[in-house]
Amino acid sequence: MQKKQIWVLHGPNLNRLGLREPQIYGHTTLDQINQRLTQLGESQGFLVQCHQSNHEGALIDLIHQAPSAPVSGFVINPAAFTHTSVALRDALAAVDLPFIEVHISNVYRREPFRHQSYFSDLAQAVICGFGPRGYELALDHLIAQLQPSS
Ligand code: DQA
Repeated sequence: MQKKQIWVLHGPNLNRLGLREPQIYGHTTLDQINQRLTQLGESQGFLVQCHQSNHEGALIDLIHQAPSAPVSGFVINPAAFTHTSVALRDALAAVDLPFIEVHISNVYRREPFRHQSYFSDLAQAVICGFGPRGYELALDHLIAQLQPSS
């Protein structure tokens, strides 16, 4: 049987993790995060694919491709698009696949403009402030949701 697929989507500037504002985002790189997620997925019999883009349209195009991949769900850190992008929100609503929103930092301890998300009311769950571990918690939860109940 073909493995179920989960896509992890990272928004703008997350390719700079490890170098970017380490006092906020820590020293773990995106490659290290992706490697852990891929392994975690594999250990549970899921195929995890990770994508990062600095471009809103590229992320939207990817989301549109998900149903035919076929993808069963997403873990997404929309990064700054969290607070700005109706278009990305609409793309997720359009494909109607479950997703978990992740933020490395606790956005509620930061500037007020980061307290608004265009995604949270559509998300299955929201994880923020757990550092890179938040991605693993999100993936673990999504996998549990997608496993056939025994
Ligand atoms: C972020 C929080 C956003 O406000 C910010 O624009 C990011 C990263 C986080 O993971 O904490 O780029 O999504």
